[in-house]
Amino acid sequence: MDLSKWDTYTDSERSGYLLAIIAATESHIMPPAKYVWMHPRAKLSDAELRSVKSWALAERAAIPKKTGIPSQRSDSRKRSR
Ligand code: HEM
Repeated sequence: MDLSKWDTYTDSERSGYLLAIIAATESHIMPPAKYVWMHPRAKLSDAELRSVKSWALAERAAIPKKTGIPSQRSDSRKRSR
């Protein structure tokens, strides 16, 4: 995941990364303890983690859901086989 390339990711890539970010905020695994030891100012408070999590949840909710109905393109690709 490279946040500087966020705009180039597809919806499903973004959705997966957001899920990983949500999990990372819940497990307090990020930033890694060894990193925080060297860079104490990188530590995130519980409030900051909550705010990252609510951003990630909102972003993920805004991604259009897959309907399971094949799109025109994938449909025609199948037929031209
Ligand atoms: C809450 C969001 C996150 C924050 C604030 C965060 C922050 C950080 C920071 C500050 C570092 C240390 C600097 C570095 O190695 O570049 C780091 C390392 C790392 N992060 Fe994250 N990160 C987040 C989410 C994630 C996610 C979602 C993943 C992947 C699923 C991830 C995977 C890693 C890995 C593999 C490392 C290297 C760990 C190591 O050196 O042992 N991080 N993260």
